Amino acid sequence: MASNSQEHTNRLIHEKSPYLLVRVTRQWPQSTRYVLLSMVKNVWSIDSMPCFIMLLVFYQAHNPVDWYPWGEEAFQKARDENKPIFLSVGYSTCHWCHVMEHESFENDRVAEIMNKYFVNIKVDREENPGVDRFYMTFVQLTTGGGGWPMSVFLTPDLQPFMGATYFPPEDKFGRPGFKTILTRIAQIWAASPEKLKQAGKSTVAQLKAYVESKPPGSSSASALTPWSTAEDTFDHFESSFDEKQGGFGGAPKFPTPVQLLFLLDYYGYQHKPNDARKALDMVLFTLRKIAAGGIHDHVGSGFHRYSTDDHWHVPHFEKMLYDQAQLLMVYSRAYQITKDELYADVVKDIVRYVSRDLLHGDGGFYAAEDADSLPTAEATKKKEGAFCVWEAGELVDILGDDAAALFSYRYGVKEQGNVDPEQDPHNELEKKNVLFEQHSIKETAQKFAASEESVSSILQDSLSKLLKYRQTSRPKPHLDDKILTSWNGLMISGLAQAARILDDSSMLELATRAATFIRNNLYDESKKTLLRSYREGPSSIDGFLDDYSYMIMGLIDLYQATFDQQWLQWAYDLQLKQNDLFYDNDNGGFFSVKRDDQSILVRLKDEQDGAEPSANAVSVANLCILGTLLQNLSLSDMAQKTIQAFESTLAKLAFSMPYFVSSFLLVTIGIKEIILAGDDKNMERMHTFQRAINRVFIPNKLVVNVVLGKSDGVLQEKNTVIRDIANKSADDVNGVSAFICENFACGMPIQDLDKVISNLTSHYS
Ligand SMILES: *[C@@H]1O[C@H](CO)[C@@H](O)[C@H](O)[C@H]1NC(C)=O
Ligand SMILES: *[C@@H]1O[C@H](CO)[C@@H](O)[C@H](O)[C@H]1NC(C)=O
Ligand SMILES: *[C@@H]1O[C@H](CO)[C@@H](O)[C@H](O)[C@H]1NC(C)=O
Repeated sequence: MASNSQEHTNRLIHEKSPYLLVRVTRQWPQSTRYVLLSMVKNVWSIDSMPCFIMLLVFYQAHNPVDWYPWGEEAFQKARDENKPIFLSVGYSTCHWCHVMEHESFENDRVAEIMNKYFVNIKVDREENPGVDRFYMTFVQLTTGGGGWPMSVFLTPDLQPFMGATYFPPEDKFGRPGFKTILTRIAQIWAASPEKLKQAGKSTVAQLKAYVESKPPGSSSASALTPWSTAEDTFDHFESSFDEKQGGFGGAPKFPTPVQLLFLLDYYGYQHKPNDARKALDMVLFTLRKIAAGGIHDHVGSGFHRYSTDDHWHVPHFEKMLYDQAQLLMVYSRAYQITKDELYADVVKDIVRYVSRDLLHGDGGFYAAEDADSLPTAEATKKKEGAFCVWEAGELVDILGDDAAALFSYRYGVKEQGNVDPEQDPHNELEKKNVLFEQHSIKETAQKFAASEESVSSILQDSLSKLLKYRQTSRPKPHLDDKILTSWNGLMISGLAQAARILDDSSMLELATRAATFIRNNLYDESKKTLLRSYREGPSSIDGFLDDYSYMIMGLIDLYQATFDQQWLQWAYDLQLKQNDLFYDNDNGGFFSVKRDDQSILVRLKDEQDGAEPSANAVSVANLCILGTLLQNLSLSDMAQKTIQAFESTLAKLAFSMPYFVSSFLLVTIGIKEIILAGDDKNMERMHTFQRAINRVFIPNKLVVNVVLGKSDGVLQEKNTVIRDIANKSADDVNGVSAFICENFACGMPIQDLDKVISNLTSHYS
């Protein structure tokens, strides 16, 4: 609808009128006009007579706060009316955000105070990570903690003077509730706004000083060597490894794919063979535990976010795209190393989940699914995990006595429920069972005196029945249907890696379609810039550092899975644009937000991994790969300088940035480039080479494909070695050959595939 009717709508919603009388005008989009007019008898044109339509206004959740998005309109209002800003940052699947929303923001009395004394801004942290990151640093430094929902009070100049996380609505246990806080701040602001402005100003100055006090590559850190850093990181994980349950440390346990990826790299380089073996064993053990646990959705596939206990049993039930993406990478590599089908099965399971529940029709992937849902269609209160858990009797009803008995034995189902009340503070899981693999197929077969095949087939059949039941009879959890460029980048990477390793064309198709979606909807070809997100159309938010770095990573992987150079070209264009927008020319490293973003008062750089890898760490690897492959030394230089920019943190806190340590190793050891060259009559043999090489795990491997005589493409254009190889004749390479290149030197062409493979695997003991 045109913007005047939007205003109209807002006003009526504020006045809580259930009806909206609107005049349909030419400004309305054709499709809206058509749908509305077709409901009015005999009126097909608005040219002949004015047309009014009465609409019923539905509001799903009554939310009386006058929210603004982050942006100039809100800032201007705060300045004009000289009011402080209340900023609330949360995200769709955040439990306490919903609680605060319900308790405070939907409360008329609270909303009245908020609307009267504050300009209220709501931000989705995934859509605007720059705002989130900056004010979270403030909250962490001033309160010693942080989290979501984040509640921060700002001056009209956006300087924070007070911040916290969740507030209860009323005073409790001697702590002020949200209403009290609002009232007090409004009073102080009315009495002496200058005081708060001054506080805001000095806070920002302190934040600036704090950020800039991290010395770029101070000389004391120059003793830092990549291997000692990697060894320290390995030691940290070895000493915190949980030998009984897998994973690191105690409850709650996150799958932390970034740590597992580091350990696999550590294994792959075979720096100290004994430790390498240990690193691999820790990863494989953890992966098997996670796959068997309740954190894995055995009925509906995919993984929940984390486990509240230390043995992967009772999860927080939301499912995030970034976890699926990174777990695809880890499980694929575990399969690549072991050739154990168990890991390949998990890869297929994740792909089944994302392509069924998170896929947009045009190929992009949605962000997440909620933990809470209505237990039944008639219920009015959502419960955590309701979509995923089962009562013993329910299983009997759906599966019948015999199959239910067998199924319950295998998946740890108990009559009284299998959730420890301690893991269920709100009693939402009473009598419920979170499925986990308590007994192996073999044990189940023994117990029921049946063959393993028949047990497997009964279990498979039961799982499909439960899935069907769940999909048709239970209300689904809320889908966070934003499509984020950054997370899609991770997903493209995960799918392309899995496709390459499992030699699976359907996974490759998913990766290609997701890349095409981003290209068609969130990329400006003429400016070479990315947008952040899409929901029923592209948002107007510009891309952040992670949108660029994760997409570039995804495209490099997609190139290696398809050998289609358009992806590599795009990756290179994005990298140059990323350097333009985010690189710190003075001190190295990349800022999280763009240089010209005026609304962020201090630009920060991220080096530590969270649930996703640090965008700086990913950038170091991207720069190293693209710099080598496209022979642009500035890129290799930026990779080095970015490492230097974080040397002091790397020296002290390497374990908190495992992805960075991996990238540091990659830059130090260099890329092992395998150039496959062949003429177009030998494509089948070329494929055989590709498949065999794809099955070998080498952390720093990069495979490139050259078809003789073809001179177009960014590789031939930029890389002189590849240009020379492309000029060779079929006789020179004997049909198909592999060139193994390291440290800027390529060996003689190798025509014998076995020799190629034994060269690549020679360092594994
Ligand atoms: C190499 O990378 C730098 C840094 O982004 C860029 O300015 C330069 O144009 C690139 N060179 C070529 C030949 O593309
Ligand atoms: C490579 O081939 C092109 C024509 O395809 C030719 O012009 C050029 O001289 C060749 N270069 C070398 C180094 O052989
Ligand atoms: C592998 O190939 C490279 C390049 O051809 C060569 O320098 C290296 O010695 C080979 N390594 C082994 C173990 O065969």
